[in-house]
Amino acid sequence: MAAQYNGDSENGLKLPQVKFTKLFINGEFVDSVSGKTFETIDPRTGETITRVAEAVKEDIDLAVKAAREAFDNGIWPRMSGYERGRIMCKFADLIEENKEELALLESWDSGKVLSFVRLRDVRSVAKTLRYYAGAADKIHGETMKMGGELQGYTLKEPIGVVGQIIPWNYPLVMFFMKVSPALAAGCTIVIKPAEQTPLTALFVADLSKQAGIPPGVLNVVPGFGQTAGAAISSHMEIDKVAFTGSTEVGRLILQASGSSNLKPVSLELGGKSPLIICDDADLDMAVDLARLAVFTNKGEICVAGSRVFVQEGIYDEFVKRSAEKAKSWVVGDPFDPNVLQGPQVDKKQFNKILSYIEHGKREGATLLTGGKPWGEKGYYVEPTIFTDVEEDMLIAKDEIFGPVMSLMKFKTIEEAIQKANNTRYGLAAGIVTNNLNIANTVSRSIRAGVIWINCYFAFDDDIPFGGYKMSGIGRDLGLQALENYLQIKSVVTPIYDSPWL
Ligand code: NAI
Ligand code: MG
Repeated sequence: MAAQYNGDSENGLKLPQVKFTKLFINGEFVDSVSGKTFETIDPRTGETITRVAEAVKEDIDLAVKAAREAFDNGIWPRMSGYERGRIMCKFADLIEENKEELALLESWDSGKVLSFVRLRDVRSVAKTLRYYAGAADKIHGETMKMGGELQGYTLKEPIGVVGQIIPWNYPLVMFFMKVSPALAAGCTIVIKPAEQTPLTALFVADLSKQAGIPPGVLNVVPGFGQTAGAAISSHMEIDKVAFTGSTEVGRLILQASGSSNLKPVSLELGGKSPLIICDDADLDMAVDLARLAVFTNKGEICVAGSRVFVQEGIYDEFVKRSAEKAKSWVVGDPFDPNVLQGPQVDKKQFNKILSYIEHGKREGATLLTGGKPWGEKGYYVEPTIFTDVEEDMLIAKDEIFGPVMSLMKFKTIEEAIQKANNTRYGLAAGIVTNNLNIANTVSRSIRAGVIWINCYFAFDDDIPFGGYKMSGIGRDLGLQALENYLQIKSVVTPIYDSPWL
């Protein structure tokens, strides 16, 4: 196994001191009411990085009280959008000033490859904040000319106290994808990071204070799903919940809303996204894209292109080149600049992936590459490719959330569309072709929230993102996401001097 770059190693990399491990409530770092803490681990080794205060129901109640006060009586929802945007831009500047420490913390806590976190995640979150900062003073309703003697207009008002529950695969990106539009709208927030990756959320909580976000507006409460998460989703004083995570938990969150105050819920859930590669595709580009679509971020991506459909004319050559290319996909310590794939986030995820691989073998799929744990310690899994995968196998149906590609062959475009849609999910899809008619037909026919033509993972703040079918409800990103955090008030007045009265 590659050396661990813990200290003054050959790369001169030094892991930061963890500065923030308490709950962030009402602008202060505080212990949990019970004094309880939980450990967050380094997935390279399974060893504890540090212990973090654990929020349970009483702590969530305190956070909600602070958020409620900040919403009902505080300045954040009442200040101009311009002013909120200015503070959010300051927040973004502080992220950039602290980018190296943030990137190191993020990699350490999650096993994400440091060079990607530096290049993409940390930069992109500052950009997301600025995108919504720019929108904060452009939120407005409409004027309606009504039936003669009346006129109406709509106001878009912040929805209130928002509960946000996020996963561990993109801790920083998910944090800002959720909080940025809510802040721009003028909401106040109680956000729970995933129990596997609480560290960067607490670090940026401190930056939010430095930026001038008032106490109670952004509360960060690490804890477990069944306790802290459930207390958020069933809370009577929370006006809206936004969630990203598994479909199973999404269902629980909807149920909790139904049996509490009927708060609106937006859900970004799992996927089993198809990538369709046509005979006319540039083969090397297609092989690279398929590898990127399922092995990036160790496959822990909701939009992973885990079902790869290849047209029969190029199938054999595609399989051959994919096997060769898989060898150059370097697994190892995520701090090593040559590494492309770090360890899975924790032991549970590691075991889950390995058990799906065993299932694939038992069900008769052919293991082309990988299939085993990598190294002697930590939660690494080899990049794995199965061929001869049938649609009804578990590995073709379930979200594995790991570096496991299922390759399947198709003859006609109609068959590819039918197979691609044969899933309960509908988050994303990719198509690789130079034929415009095929690209257009496939884009229109696939039931998924985002279609990538000759690319994959082409995210942008301005592109709405979310799922069809059991992949979710509502959209993140884009100006669309603001609507999650706004509600419409209609105001009607008579026009007394109307000649029609
Ligand atoms: P999860 O859905 O349990 O965790 C996501 C978040 O939900 C975490 O913050 C967790 O604490 C919280 N949560 C868990 N139970 C809750 C409850 N009863 N009430 C409220 N909040 C709750 O996902 P988990 O167990 O970490 O991963 C399991 C599988 O879920 C993965 O293997 C993957 O297939 C899928 N997943 C999908 C994600 C996506 O981006 N679509 C992200 C994370 C996981
Ligand atoms: Mg961790």
